[in-house]
Amino acid sequence: MNPDLDRLRADLLGFYDRQKRDLPWRREEDPYRILVSEVMLQQTRVDTVLGYYEPWLGRFPDIEALAAASEDSVLKAWEGLGYYRRARNLHAAARVVREEWGGAVPSTEAELRMLPGVGEYTAGAVASIAFGEAVPAVDGNVRRALARLYDVVKPTARWLRETAAALVDPERPGDWNQALMELGATVCTPRAPSCGACPVAWGCAARSAGTVDERPAPTRKRAPRKAVIALVVLRAPGGEVLLERRGEGGVLAGMWAFPEQEIDGVDRAAEAARELAAEFLTAGHGSPAGTGDAPLAEARPLPHVRHHFTHIHATYVPWLLEVADVPERCLDSSDRETRWAGSAERSELALPVAQRTVLAHL
Ligand code: ADE
Repeated sequence: MNPDLDRLRADLLGFYDRQKRDLPWRREEDPYRILVSEVMLQQTRVDTVLGYYEPWLGRFPDIEALAAASEDSVLKAWEGLGYYRRARNLHAAARVVREEWGGAVPSTEAELRMLPGVGEYTAGAVASIAFGEAVPAVDGNVRRALARLYDVVKPTARWLRETAAALVDPERPGDWNQALMELGATVCTPRAPSCGACPVAWGCAARSAGTVDERPAPTRKRAPRKAVIALVVLRAPGGEVLLERRGEGGVLAGMWAFPEQEIDGVDRAAEAARELAAEFLTAGHGSPAGTGDAPLAEARPLPHVRHHFTHIHATYVPWLLEVADVPERCLDSSDRETRWAGSAERSELALPVAQRTVLAHL
């Protein structure tokens, strides 16, 4: 069944005009500001993004400001939002826009896709919302709404793209895409959808068939892996702690963290912490208590911290180790970047959420 297209557009846009949430990016026209919102909204709830969007724009009000910023300040502004690769990509994209596009965000879906971190969804969203290009933008909410509207069990990427493209209202593409997202987020929800309040229930094939709750079929997710991670807080007499910048790759690339190591079980944590301490404190620089061959007498366990990443459920097992004085150099011969950070410096650096919690337990 194919619902009447004119009626579908009129009813869904009418719903959007009447009931859209008043979100800060919906008051913006500047493409950079819309790009920021769409990158933040990838895999992240609107409520969470609301706490970050305006502070970010205060700090990086335009492409030029973002392109000129340091990676540390960019990661710091993103701290707590997760999926930090997005921040690094957005930063890289600002530099590409400055260097290759004369500072103006490219205006078509095809050009937008050439920017780092801008995939099909984000390119479609920005092209339609900021530039009025009649292209679709399929996120998880749109996928669910379309699967129900057409009663499709397992929508393929191709079907979604083609179906969404055929629906886009050529007069108001940005509003149309956001109207579909809004429908999915507020009415056509994963569980207990409010079909009684749906402006397009009249055209919904799943509703007619009584299959709304089974559309789309749940995707089978792999169970997250459990990981136990030993972590060492090396603390100097002045209160500075040793942080290491995480290397490329992984979900926390570029952030600052305590030395850590995955272990087989909680029992192994004290030993692993001592190994980490010995590795990070170069012999001859300072006299760390309880490192090397000495027992970990001065070490104190701190409360465990759990954190859920997308594919890993991590339990951090932190040990605190006081060092007698700050070693002048730490690992200066290796490719690791470390620093002793006091509380002022720590508030400037981007630390993962779990590490912030460990700090709070000190
Ligand atoms: N999710 C992704 N983009 C969005 C937008 N522009 N408004 C609301 N939710 C969104």
